[in-house]
Amino acid sequence: MSADYVVHGDVAVITLNNPPVNGLGLATRTAAVDGLRRAQMDANVKAIVITGAGKAFSGGADIREFNSPKALTEPTLHTLIRTAEEAVKPVVAAIHSVCMGGGLELALGCHYRVALPGAQIALPEVKLGLLPGAGGTQRLPRALGLEPALKMIVTGNPVPSEKLPALFDEVYAAGTDLVAAAVAFAERIADVRPLPKVRERKVDHPDLEAFLRKTREEVLATSARFPAPAECVDTVAASATMPFEDGLKFERERFMHLMGTTESKALRHAFFAEREAAKVPDVPADTPQRRIAQAAVIGAGTMGGGIAMNFANAGIPVTVLETKQEALDAGIAKIRAVYEASVAKGKLTSEQLAQRIALITPTLRYEDVAQADIVVEAVFEEMAVKEAVFRKLDDVMKPGAILATNTSTLDVDRIAAFTRRPQDVIGTHFFSPAHVMKLLEIVRGKATGKDVLATTLALAKKLKKTGVVSGVCDGFIGNRMIEQYVRQAGFLLDEGCLPEQVDRAIEAFGFAMGPFRMGDLAGNDIGWAIRKRRQVEQPGMRYSKTADLLCEMGRFGQKTGAGWYDYPAGQRTPQPNAQVNDMIVAHSQALGIARRDIGDDEIVERLVYALVNEGARILEEGIALRASDIDMVYLTGYGFPLFRGGPMFYADTVGLPNVLAAIERFAAGRNGEAWQPAPLLARLAAAGKGFNSK
Ligand code: NAI
Repeated sequence: MSADYVVHGDVAVITLNNPPVNGLGLATRTAAVDGLRRAQMDANVKAIVITGAGKAFSGGADIREFNSPKALTEPTLHTLIRTAEEAVKPVVAAIHSVCMGGGLELALGCHYRVALPGAQIALPEVKLGLLPGAGGTQRLPRALGLEPALKMIVTGNPVPSEKLPALFDEVYAAGTDLVAAAVAFAERIADVRPLPKVRERKVDHPDLEAFLRKTREEVLATSARFPAPAECVDTVAASATMPFEDGLKFERERFMHLMGTTESKALRHAFFAEREAAKVPDVPADTPQRRIAQAAVIGAGTMGGGIAMNFANAGIPVTVLETKQEALDAGIAKIRAVYEASVAKGKLTSEQLAQRIALITPTLRYEDVAQADIVVEAVFEEMAVKEAVFRKLDDVMKPGAILATNTSTLDVDRIAAFTRRPQDVIGTHFFSPAHVMKLLEIVRGKATGKDVLATTLALAKKLKKTGVVSGVCDGFIGNRMIEQYVRQAGFLLDEGCLPEQVDRAIEAFGFAMGPFRMGDLAGNDIGWAIRKRRQVEQPGMRYSKTADLLCEMGRFGQKTGAGWYDYPAGQRTPQPNAQVNDMIVAHSQALGIARRDIGDDEIVERLVYALVNEGARILEEGIALRASDIDMVYLTGYGFPLFRGGPMFYADTVGLPNVLAAIERFAAGRNGEAWQPAPLLARLAAAGKGFNSK
């Protein structure tokens, strides 16, 4: 069942019925077209109402039919809209809750529209790098006026129905019985002829050229890397300059063009990747979950404070434990300061601030955290400290509590073994700043219970994070890959680059921040400590010594006012430093390296393919479940450019044989030992396949 047909008096009511949001899939379109035809043939029916069952009028195209031939099978969305528009009896769209994309395009094809207030009205196609392809760019300006329509189409953002009076013939009071009101309306207008059609209206604008010029400039300034917003402007402009049918043809052509762009493919990849990441093959959706009503965080430092805010923001009471009163006070003061900054920016009200602070309880005593349903440890990154904390948690926590660690590199299985309940232990690796970054790496230990994993995945969603599952290895998915990227950045310094050149090249590629600016932000001492440990655990791994020399100069980054760059008087804008650059050049000389000019292309290839090659290993070892999970980690945690879809997707677009050839070239050069091609990459390249299309 995908659309129901019922006759009330002399009005036929067609109810779209395709949960969860009445996506306009083939079966729904077929049933709606059948309903429209049947109503027109029924001599007892004078008018037709189309509405939606459950939680929406219609959310638009059925995402399950994306990339499937069903989307192009008749009746297409175009055919459905035409059937409504050309019906010989009036068709009324009765809208509630959600009316987006194809759903709104269908409503625009109807002769009348009535709505409940609060319905979310949008054409969000631009968010997938597309434009509305079923007449939306031609009908919405005719219905609303060019400026408001263009704004909705270029941003894709929803507008509540009561704010769009021009779109609706009637907007009822909240709580009105929508179908009854729509039927009464249909009866009232049943005999009015000619039937009003949006397509027959004209789009006027007093100064079209100037308005379009200004909008094009704005669009270019905010989304230069994406072609869709500019195409939206051109296509909406056609509604004012072309006859309707020509405008539709133009829209179709631009839509098809955008479908083929890498940027749109990348956005659609990310859209599906996010949904896929929540699925773990051996942990089905109906796996029982544990209740999370109370949380605790151990350690109120950089990460602990941010993690506690996540719980408070989701309405979950959280107790924060520290060893010393001063550390506890400092941690709570920092949380308060972050909330106060949000209030100052108008993102939070003072009441919300008070509510959130009230949800956070500071303590120095383990008895106060014992009843929490989940406890997240965020103490120093040292195994001995983690051991002491987990032994204590094992002693005090109530049975069934989830014991999570925020470690960024340590072995979660070893941590679990400090307890008598390894099935309850899991890694929840938040990213800094933890109250901002979308990524949550969920580290599944070898003993982690399926219910614990399912609960943590659901918790990620509740905290509005993108949860991605990783197996246990040093650095998990994200940091294990970034180490190879940072390692290449160091070798580039030894061979001839300076930090600003490397950062500039990779930022031009689209990264939010280059490796040296990133190091200065995160603190160069963190990597230093990891390398020291690594030299004990895995002696022989070679890397550029420049980062160690930098730390020996006391330049830890922004927190010390100086790192790879200077940050005069607390500024965040980096200034190159002559001493650092001299140190880099002197180090090359000490190594006997003749520094050479290195092109931006080589910089980008070496940094990005270092990620790809390590990503391939991670995939082959099963640390990541799928290539798209690795992409999500990089898009949501590391500032990888969204319009390139993530490292693995990007490698697919370059072509794996090309990536492999570059890696083999690097392997033959200086520091070539870092470039053993990952076996999976070599195999897929030979088979003409991609990471995302195995
Ligand atoms: P931090 O040094 O800012 O905070 C650690 C806090 O733990 C301090 O306030 C300290 O007083 C407290 N602490 C130490 N021993 C304790 C104990 N036995 N009981 C209770 N509290 C104790 O460190 P940060 O940066 O917050 O890191 C915490 C954890 O998060 C580490 O495992 C780190 O690897 C991980 N992490 C850090 C990220 C970052 O960017 N800083 C990112 C992701 C993970």
